[in-house]
Amino acid sequence: MRLDVVSIFPEYLAPLDLSLIGKARREGLIDLKVHDLRDFAHDKHRTVDDSPYGGGAGMVMKPGPWSEALEHVLAQEDSPSGDEPRKVPTLIIPGPGGEPFTQQIARELADEPWLAFACGRYEGIDERVYEWAGERMPVRVLSLGDYVLNGGEVAVLAMVEAVARLLPGVIGNAESLVEESHEDGLLEYPVYTKPAEWDGRAVPDVLLGGNHRAIADWRHEQRVQRTAERRPDLLPPTAAASALSDLEERVATPADAPDLQVLTRACWAPEFARYGMFGAGEEDLETVRDGIQEWDTRVWRKDGQLLASVRVRSHPTQEATWQIGRLMVAPYLQGRGLGRELLGYAESLASEGVRTFWLNTGAKSTENLRMYKKAGYKVRPGEGEFPGTVDLTKRQVTTSLPE
Ligand SMILES: C[S@@+](CC[C@H](N)C(=O)[O-])C[C@H]1O[C@@H](n2cnc3c(N)ncnc32)[C@H](O)[C@@H]1O
Repeated sequence: MRLDVVSIFPEYLAPLDLSLIGKARREGLIDLKVHDLRDFAHDKHRTVDDSPYGGGAGMVMKPGPWSEALEHVLAQEDSPSGDEPRKVPTLIIPGPGGEPFTQQIARELADEPWLAFACGRYEGIDERVYEWAGERMPVRVLSLGDYVLNGGEVAVLAMVEAVARLLPGVIGNAESLVEESHEDGLLEYPVYTKPAEWDGRAVPDVLLGGNHRAIADWRHEQRVQRTAERRPDLLPPTAAASALSDLEERVATPADAPDLQVLTRACWAPEFARYGMFGAGEEDLETVRDGIQEWDTRVWRKDGQLLASVRVRSHPTQEATWQIGRLMVAPYLQGRGLGRELLGYAESLASEGVRTFWLNTGAKSTENLRMYKKAGYKVRPGEGEFPGTVDLTKRQVTTSLPE
């Protein structure tokens, strides 16, 4: 990723030479350049500010140096070849009056090849610069929070760090990004390390037992509880009713086949529609019943209604591999984190000795792919087990025993 930062205090960005971001720069994962706005002022004092029209306290950043500095950034594009359109960065202008910067925005920005940042100072930048820049590149005004800083540099440090750590290869262990706060609307659960007892305070027993299902349940409860206590604004009104623990879980029997057939159809229809194959992917009841025999299929119901299901088994041909399939949530409950919970649960069912989790999804199933990648899965190269699909795998993380 390429990053250009314009500031009157280039030295302020020096921390971006340190730690993981500094390492990513040295390894060429990030190409970051800092430009001094004063290089684009032409008077003896390299002036970049002036008094505000209409009066009032403070100074305003002049438009001229900003347009020149941003032209300079734009001109650094590798010369476009043939009919290719000119590549431009997305320009981020930090400001307390901007859209709140969130993990979701960090993810969006991490998908961009080129970002530029304009660090304001004083009372801010002449408003016409926003207009001028918007005619040349996408512009986003982003706020770090509801308070006022002296300049945009601190905001840029925070934003660059939040974005850059999402780039492949920047964080050594990508799994550590998976369950973090704000990734799926909940805060992270409390974490502990050795020793198991410190200062008369013990680590919760459940974490010492090695029971993955119990640990996953405890962590989920802690996430919901912590979010409710500290950030109730993050909880959707229906969150309590959409947790798996609110539903009744059972191992599926052949009697579940008709409902499973309907749920599969409801979940698959939009997937097949992406391929223009409307109504495709129907499974007859016998095939559904066979599936129930061949897999460990779990179903979740509320008031008798089938709302979610997933099935698991040891992969028939791949050694030490846990196959997860048919992860399904009733369409009206989708988008609330239930799928993610199901996935964690399916992993927790893995038998002893499993080293890899395996699943398969449509190559165009963007929401599924996004969820699986967030959960640490990687797409295997080439076509998946079925035409138009991809296989994904994830290494099983072994839990070390406490001291
Ligand atoms: C003193 S502030 C200007 C505040 C401006 N007069 C206002 O009231 O909205 C100077 C610069 O600091 C940066 N800044 C201040 N607070 C910020 C925040 N919460 N998020 C992002 N940038 C901020 C912006 O670059 C802004 O132009």
